[in-house]
Amino acid sequence: MGASDRNPQFYCPLRDRYINVGEADILVVSTEAKEDHAKPEEAIAESNITLKRAYEQDMDDVREVVEYFWDETEFYCFDQTFKVEECTNILAYAEDDLAGLLSYKRNDQTLHIVVLNVYPEHQGQGIARKLIREAIEIADKNRCETVKVATTNDDIPAICVYQKMGFRLSEILPGAVAKHHGEELPGFAGIPVLDEIRLERPV
Ligand SMILES: CC(C)(COP(=O)(O)OP(=O)(O)OC[C@H]1O[C@@H](n2cnc3c(N)ncnc32)[C@H](O)[C@@H]1OP(=O)(O)O)[C@@H](O)C(=O)NCCC(=O)NCCS
Repeated sequence: MGASDRNPQFYCPLRDRYINVGEADILVVSTEAKEDHAKPEEAIAESNITLKRAYEQDMDDVREVVEYFWDETEFYCFDQTFKVEECTNILAYAEDDLAGLLSYKRNDQTLHIVVLNVYPEHQGQGIARKLIREAIEIADKNRCETVKVATTNDDIPAICVYQKMGFRLSEILPGAVAKHHGEELPGFAGIPVLDEIRLERPV
């Protein structure tokens, strides 16, 4: 599946349109001007954004998010395949609307974030930050030392959000993602999806 066949993943405030990764591009703006930009939907009060641990009866919502964004429920990173059904899943709701998902897998020392997605109509309201903060708190409660995440070289928004949340680049696996896919797919802004980028943050 090419970048242009994917579901819309972002909101373009200049055209007031939901766009897929192939239609997306980077535009540098001042942080002041960013505040003035149109938001996709009416802002939801922070107190009406809730996080919920997904149990068996919530798995349809979990699958809905990952299939919308990735068209699959298994993710290859950190040299292993993570199945979303075997992860712990945290769902985000904006009022009653399903807004996003963070999936993680924990071992003694490390919490691996496997999936992080927020639907385009709910982006830009701090939901990803809230989900990442929750993952860091869970890691802390479980005495993990590190939170790790892997993304791809093209995923500039994800690389941006993780660094703003205290993650640092830790490893680059050149060509690992293209090798896994068996081809070089175009990704965000037409950047070829090639490398696995690992980031980590001490708890
Ligand atoms: C990346 C993503 C999870 C961010 O979700 P979000 O709820 O909009 O993020 P937040 O509102 O919490 O924003 C956190 C920071 O991320 C950055 N960010 C979010 N969306 C961005 C975008 N479209 N472009 C650039 N930076 C972006 C911002 O710098 C923001 O910082 P700020 O709070 O100082 O403005 C969401 O855009 C998404 O799901 N995208 C689709 C696919 C994807 O890239 N997933 C990540 C795979 S690992």
